[in-house]
Amino acid sequence: METIKTKSCDEELDPSLFRPDFPILRKVLRDGIPLVYLDNAATTQRPRQVIAAIVDIYEHHYSNVHRGIHTLADETTELYEGARDRVREFLNAAEREEIVFTAGATAGINLVARAWGDANLRPGDEILLTEMEHHSNMVPWYQLAERTGAVVRHLPLTDDGRLDLSALPHMLTEKTKILAVTAVSNVLGTINPVQDLIPAAHAVGAKVLVDGAQSVPHHRTDVQRLDADFLVFSGHKMLGPTGVGVLYGKREILEAMPPFLGGGSMIHEVTLDGFVPGDLPARFEAGTPPIVGAIGLGAAIDYLTSVGLSRIESHERRLTQKLYVALAEIEGVRILGTEPSLRGGIVSFVLNDLHAQDLAHLLDRYGVAVRAGHHCAMPLHRRYGVPTSARASFYLYNTSEDIDHLIDAILRARRLAHRK
Ligand code: ALA
Repeated sequence: METIKTKSCDEELDPSLFRPDFPILRKVLRDGIPLVYLDNAATTQRPRQVIAAIVDIYEHHYSNVHRGIHTLADETTELYEGARDRVREFLNAAEREEIVFTAGATAGINLVARAWGDANLRPGDEILLTEMEHHSNMVPWYQLAERTGAVVRHLPLTDDGRLDLSALPHMLTEKTKILAVTAVSNVLGTINPVQDLIPAAHAVGAKVLVDGAQSVPHHRTDVQRLDADFLVFSGHKMLGPTGVGVLYGKREILEAMPPFLGGGSMIHEVTLDGFVPGDLPARFEAGTPPIVGAIGLGAAIDYLTSVGLSRIESHERRLTQKLYVALAEIEGVRILGTEPSLRGGIVSFVLNDLHAQDLAHLLDRYGVAVRAGHHCAMPLHRRYGVPTSARASFYLYNTSEDIDHLIDAILRARRLAHRK
């Protein structure tokens, strides 16, 4: 593994130190225009160190895990289980058995909805979500409600993009069996007070699933301090590969859950009459798991840890503040959501005279990559009376100049659109 340029923890993050690690950021688009990548909430880029870890496993160690009695199988199993240890430490989970590798955050939520939900929900029980959830943290619960007769409720939002906590006392009741909430909105960037919501849910006997897809990559997460029952996230939003994610679950809850997917590896014994499920975490990792993905995620965690999550968070906060102020100065721009100090590195906005998708196409001409659409959050957009928005989102390699490029490109795009 190559070394990573570290600096002292309290020193301001200088993205120019890290950008050379990301080959794709040197990409030059048509007409010699450099890439300005601002679509990190959709997926991030990978540093050489992560790419090297992936190449290394395929070139020197690759085999299936847990099954073999040969050298390569041992080496790969050691690397795969080593990645689990890295994740445990990164989240400060109490035990490695509480870390289940999945295909991503979506897969983790579906696993919980199926395995925990089917076993625990009865007609009339309530599932509490919020109006700002990603479809991944809505649809699996709707499906669960259809199967069980449970009722889904949604915590409303304030006009400025926060959870309306005044509704909590009458929405979070003894009927609530689970609260599933995102730690950071993938559209508004709002940082939700999950540290307050979790004890409130526990006080009425509800479990809590935290969708950490947009928080774990950017903010320090301590599952023991949070006391979360479940937490999910994806590798590809934190410099790791696609196709891998993590479900953290408290041991006693996971142990009481029946398996969801059946297949190899997740059993103690199979007979012609049935099967006995295996121990944690194998019970929830049927079939060949995301071996290389998990190992790549381990390398990504090493990289993020060496840079320092608190420095990444502060850096993104500075960029968000700058973009917020610059956007607010452009006539006809509406920024969705709350003030910069209450949000992570995500800013979604609409222009009064240019459709978000048209804007994104025009921005691409100037090399700027943003996402446009409903961002898998249609109810949220409906709440704010817009069908779609454009979204800029940051990571450690983004610079202040990237924001200058974005603002300049928005102004040019607008001029171009009106000339037509
Ligand atoms: N969940 C990702 C996003 O919000 C894909 O863009």
